[in-house]
Amino acid sequence: MNYVDPGKVIGSPLNRVDGPKKVTGTAIYTSDHHFDGMLYAVPVRATVAAGTIKTLDPSAAEKMPGVRLVLHSGNIGKLNPPNKKGMIDEKRPPFADNEVRYYGQYVAAVIADTFEQATAAADAVKVTYDARPFNVKDELESAKWSTESQRGDVEKAFAEAPVKVDETYVTPTETHSVIELHASVVTYENGVFTLYEPSQAVVNHRQVAAAVLGEPADNIRVVARFIGSGFGSKLWPWAHSFIAAAAAKKLKKPIKLVLTRKMNFESAGHRPLTQQRIRLGATAEGKLVCLSHDSINHTSLSDDYAENCGEATPFLYSTPNLLVRSSLARRNVGTPTSMRGPGAVPGLFALESAIDELAVKLKIDPVQFRIMNEPKVDESSGLPFSSRHMVECLQTGADKFGWSKRTPGIGSMSKDGKILGWGVAGASWIALRMPTQAAVELKSDGTVRVTCATQDIGTGTYTAAAQIVSAEAGVPTDRIEVVLGDTDLPPGPFSGGSAATASVIPAMLQAVREAQQAVIDLAVKTPNSPFASHKPRDLTFKDGKVVAANTTVGSTDGGGLPFASVLEMAGKASVKGHGKSEGGFNDPLKKKYSLHSFGAQFAEVSWQPELARLKVERVVTVIDGGRVINRKMAANQIEGAVIMGVGMALFEHTHYDPQNGAAINSNFADYVMATHADAPRMDVSFVEHPDTIFNELGARGLGEIGLAGIAAAITNAVHHATGVRVRKLPVMIEDLL
Ligand code: MOS
Repeated sequence: MNYVDPGKVIGSPLNRVDGPKKVTGTAIYTSDHHFDGMLYAVPVRATVAAGTIKTLDPSAAEKMPGVRLVLHSGNIGKLNPPNKKGMIDEKRPPFADNEVRYYGQYVAAVIADTFEQATAAADAVKVTYDARPFNVKDELESAKWSTESQRGDVEKAFAEAPVKVDETYVTPTETHSVIELHASVVTYENGVFTLYEPSQAVVNHRQVAAAVLGEPADNIRVVARFIGSGFGSKLWPWAHSFIAAAAAKKLKKPIKLVLTRKMNFESAGHRPLTQQRIRLGATAEGKLVCLSHDSINHTSLSDDYAENCGEATPFLYSTPNLLVRSSLARRNVGTPTSMRGPGAVPGLFALESAIDELAVKLKIDPVQFRIMNEPKVDESSGLPFSSRHMVECLQTGADKFGWSKRTPGIGSMSKDGKILGWGVAGASWIALRMPTQAAVELKSDGTVRVTCATQDIGTGTYTAAAQIVSAEAGVPTDRIEVVLGDTDLPPGPFSGGSAATASVIPAMLQAVREAQQAVIDLAVKTPNSPFASHKPRDLTFKDGKVVAANTTVGSTDGGGLPFASVLEMAGKASVKGHGKSEGGFNDPLKKKYSLHSFGAQFAEVSWQPELARLKVERVVTVIDGGRVINRKMAANQIEGAVIMGVGMALFEHTHYDPQNGAAINSNFADYVMATHADAPRMDVSFVEHPDTIFNELGARGLGEIGLAGIAAAITNAVHHATGVRVRKLPVMIEDLL
């Protein structure tokens, strides 16, 4: 669908407005940028996982053809640690000391005329190390527990509960395997850096780069027009960006630095390994009486990255006694970072598996058990939910899936000679909105230009912005130009936390209204205007036209005057409006309401023990994410997440080599992900209850929630088919034999 009437555009399955650019190859991604005289940077990576650099000898590399510079701790110049204003996970500036804390850490970089010359010379930089023992072990020990949420007395309730579950669940290290490799292209001209970055957050990138490079933010521009997805790995800057910027300044030349896939597995973040103990207690009738969730995740030696596994635990179910605690365990690995649904996704694998185990013990249907323990308010805070329709998700999903035909016995269902397993899990993700500014320009040619320094990471922000502005301005989306991904624009939100759409809505609506008001003012002030005798308050906008508010349409204004005609009469090329949204991590709204999205996942697996073949056959997902802005994009987000969830349940696992600490399966042959052949039949739907407490249109984010719950739904189905309870992801076939 390429055209939708502005009055019906919100919710419509409009095609992506940037689609033609993407399919014709005219969408410019970071590494597509090319500048005259550009040089290529290739990092040199540590070949030990712990130790001290003893010697670093660049002399052989420096003599190689095309080599302009070998950058290392001795010549990179002063780089500062980032300050608190910006967000970054690996905080140590590149080459800041001679310590090696993980395999693949950058110890130098070669800059040469061609990528091939730089790659060859990077291999010729001689580095010796005083290697030390390292630790990349999978079993995680807790150093120090922090209490995240607590109510009642879990220990007492657990001791007294007649039915209980006490199990430990493990999710592996996973690496964001984005299509577009991480890259930085940096120009340095007249003291101004322009960083072309596949950044999920250009405004934050500028802030961090300013601190690290010791420059005023005004001297830094960050551009990210198109991004080949990020899944969180491109939220905050990584060290390579500062290497490229330092080289550009030193050599006064444009620099291109593109990470290899291997580097992507070492020094551009990952979802950390988690180990989670869940204890549940219930009455014999199936009332949950206690819930304890202890999670440990690995982090790097230098940074405290916490995977907030207990994010959804405090409010998902009604229970008088609850304890959520977290802890970190240090490993010689690169610093972890957010990966799609950080915290909640591995956390809900554990919680939703344990809930299934408890329902099985109680001999209560797992859908019914969840509905029986549905809370009325957020019991961790006592606050009402801004909007929660979890039960409707479970019921709608059960209907669509055909859940009533499920027989609970292990291996009791089959089809076409295959054993079937049916599993269910609940899903939840935060509803987040960030402070945002946007500008809207109404132009005399009848087009509209909307600008905001947020990004489209592939999720569809260009399209959602066009729809939001189209609906409010009464102008079709094909006459709306959306400009994003540039710090020269009004500061916008990061594309993360599923926050972008909800963040831009109020700012863009307000900007449209402000621009329309400016048109009304012109309509009144312009002498030859049919509205010259009106007061501004008597005029309003309808279908992109100025109309008299209180008179019969058509009586004095001939059906209204398009804004373009008003601008033409006034001799103006355009008028501008500006808008601002509220929000943030400490959103004042969070003091009044518990802000979350919800969902339910139903999975069917087939199991053929004679072939040792397991397949996820179909998945029904029902999401409560408020009003949907674009049904096609929304469904695409959830479908993509479900396929990623198949990968999480069955395939994805970054292994660290016990012999040298390297991420060992650091390529697309060995890091197994779900492919098309692994994709189940998917049925995605939304229970659309607009959350107008959250914003005027009632939309919450949809980027991450589709991955929540899905892995547990699959392993719960695996248990139903095989009787094997897999508590350590991914499911290995040998677990089932
Ligand atoms: Mo998302 S992990 O906040 O990109």
